[in-house]
Amino acid sequence: MSKQRSMARPLTRRFCPVNKPEIVIRSDAGALARKAAEQFVARANQAVTHAGRFAVALSGGSTPKALYSRLASAEFRDSLDWPSVHLFWGDERCVPPDHLESNFRMVHETLLARLPVAPENIHRMPAEKEPSEAAAAYESELKTFFRLENGAWPVFDLILLGLGEDGHTASLFPGTTVLDEAKHCVAAIYVAKLRSYRLTLTLPVINAAAQVTFLVSGTSKAKIVREIFGSPEASFDYPAAKIRPSEGQLTWMFDADAAKELPPSIITEIGVAE
Ligand code: 6PG
Repeated sequence: MSKQRSMARPLTRRFCPVNKPEIVIRSDAGALARKAAEQFVARANQAVTHAGRFAVALSGGSTPKALYSRLASAEFRDSLDWPSVHLFWGDERCVPPDHLESNFRMVHETLLARLPVAPENIHRMPAEKEPSEAAAAYESELKTFFRLENGAWPVFDLILLGLGEDGHTASLFPGTTVLDEAKHCVAAIYVAKLRSYRLTLTLPVINAAAQVTFLVSGTSKAKIVREIFGSPEASFDYPAAKIRPSEGQLTWMFDADAAKELPPSIITEIGVAE
């Protein structure tokens, strides 16, 4: 039986996920990358043991570069059964794969160029295509890979996410219509403030995952972190605050700079995981 989930309960301000979110704090970006690599390996080996494969959606931007580099390093590369690892992308800029802005290119340079990952295990978003065509193509790739039945959402073993200073995550930006998407797994979205198109996994897919992990690093993120955790209801308009896996685990991984304005009440309430 392929990993899929039927339509989740509607996401509302008061929605309470099954699992309490976890908070992990590390002293700096290097230690954060190591902790994220350890979780990646643990989740991968767990999935391969149970289902014979590990399906992960990678995040873009700059923060995960250190993680991808670490996974390709001698310290971690042999701890994974790479032939069983299937790499997907959580979002992409609508540019060719060799473009400087390409999230695929970033992952290629930091991870794929240094590891023997088989081409059939690399599920790149075809972002050089016309945006809605690219979204439709990736949607059918997900349907095939997860052997999805109608109306079901794929269950990724792990989805990695970043956090923008405006509260966006993946390419789910504040005030954009994609936040209401309840039918498709993948969307093409025009982001006015970037004057460009993006491809992104939609909220239902992210919230159907078994594990969702935010990697957040640097002082520039401290304010948005404070706002998201400061008042869960008020911050619900931030796309990142809408990430509440229905049955999976949510983990926020911070370095000390990004976590420095986390409300103490949250630390008390949620606690900091090892
Ligand atoms: C992208 C990302 C995006 C990113 C945040 C944080 O394609 O840009 O997927 O959601 O994670 O913008 O970016 P940084 O890690 O560069 O701060």
